Amino acid sequence: MGKSKVLVVGGTGYIGKRIVKASLALGHETHVLHRPEIGVEIEKVQMLLSFKAQGAHLVQGSFSDHQSLVDAVKRVDVVICAISGVHIRSHHILLQLKLVDAIKEAGNIKCFLPSEFGMDPARMDHAMEPGRVTFDEKMVVRKAIQNAGIPFTYISANCFAGYFLGGLCQIGRITPSRESVVLLGDANVKAIYVDEDDIAIYTIKTIDDPRTLNKTVYLRPPENILSQREVVRIWEKHIGKELKKSTISAEDFLATMKGLDYEQQVGLTHYYHVCYEGCLTNFEIGEDGVEASELYPEIKYTRVDEYLKRYL
Ligand SMILES: NC(=O)c1ccc[n+]([C@@H]2O[C@H](COP(=O)([O-])OP(=O)(O)OC[C@H]3O[C@@H](n4cnc5c(N)ncnc54)[C@H](OP(=O)(O)O)[C@@H]3O)[C@@H](O)[C@H]2O)c1
Repeated sequence: MGKSKVLVVGGTGYIGKRIVKASLALGHETHVLHRPEIGVEIEKVQMLLSFKAQGAHLVQGSFSDHQSLVDAVKRVDVVICAISGVHIRSHHILLQLKLVDAIKEAGNIKCFLPSEFGMDPARMDHAMEPGRVTFDEKMVVRKAIQNAGIPFTYISANCFAGYFLGGLCQIGRITPSRESVVLLGDANVKAIYVDEDDIAIYTIKTIDDPRTLNKTVYLRPPENILSQREVVRIWEKHIGKELKKSTISAEDFLATMKGLDYEQQVGLTHYYHVCYEGCLTNFEIGEDGVEASELYPEIKYTRVDEYLKRYL
C-alpha cells in the first residue's frame, strides 16, 4: 500500500506550514488548499508557490463554494485542517463544519484530522469563560465528524514551544528575559512543551498508522514535561545567571483579565488551566488515546534545553 495522499487546509498558517513541510519530507503526495480569498496577500501567495516548488500541489477551493471543497477532498485520502483558532471566533467552527460536510459528501476520506493541536477539549468541560469557547467549538466539530461517520485522529499537541517556552511560560511574552521572570503561583505545576516542527512530524506519522485511527494522539515527549521553575532553571544555566523572581497568585493572575481584549482573555484562561491547574498532566491517557513518543520512538524530538538555545 502506498503512502496516503494528504490535503492540508490552512497550509499557510503557523502550524499548517510546518505540516505541509513534514508531509512532503515524509514522502506523501501533498495538496494544499489555495483559497481565492487570499487575494494579494503576497506572503501567503509566495509561501504557496514555495510549497509548489518543493513538490506540493496547489488546489483551488473556497469555504464559500461547497463543490470546490468536495473536489479538493476527492483528490486525497487524508485531510488535515490547520485553520486558526478562536481569534476568528465563530468562523472557525463554521468553516470546519463546512469541511466536514464536504468530506462526508466526498465519501473517500480514510482519516480526517481537524484543527485541534492543543489541550484535549474532551477534558476541558470545566474550563473557564471566555476561553472555554475554544474547547466547546472543537467538541462541536468532533461531534459532527463522529455523527457523519468520518474516520478521524485528534492531535493533542499540548504547548506550542514558541508560545510557552519562548516567554518562560509568561503570558504576553515570547522571548526570555535575561533579567527577571514572573512565576505563576508556586511554578511547580508540570506542562508539556513541543517544538512546532516536531508536532508536524508526529502529526504526519499518525496518518498511515492504524494504531491512531479514531483515537486522540497525545504528544507527551517525556523529557519535555516540566514545571515553569524547571524551564527557568534551564534558561538560567544557558545564560549563566539567576533571574530576579516575583510571583503572581492565581487570583491576581485572573484579576488581570479586566482590561484585556477578548482574544487576550481567552489566552489568559488557557494559561491558567495549563500553568496553575496542570490540565495537561493531571490525567492518565485512557483507552481512547495513545501517546506519540511511545508510538514513534525513532523521532528525536527537540528537548527544552536545546530549544531554548535559539534565544541566546
Ligand atoms: N497548543 C498551542 O499552544 C496552540 C497555540 C496556537 C494555536 N493552537 C491551535 O492550532 C490550530 C492552528 O492555529 P494556528 O495558530 O496555526 O493558526 P493561524 O496561523 O492563525 O491560521 C492558520 C490558517 O487558518 C486559515 N484561516 C484564517 N482565517 C481564515 C478564514 N477567515 N477563512 C478561511 N481560512 C482562514 C488560513 O489558512 P490559508 O490562508 O492558508 O487558507 C491561516 O493561515 C488551532 O486549532 C489552534 O487552536 C494551539
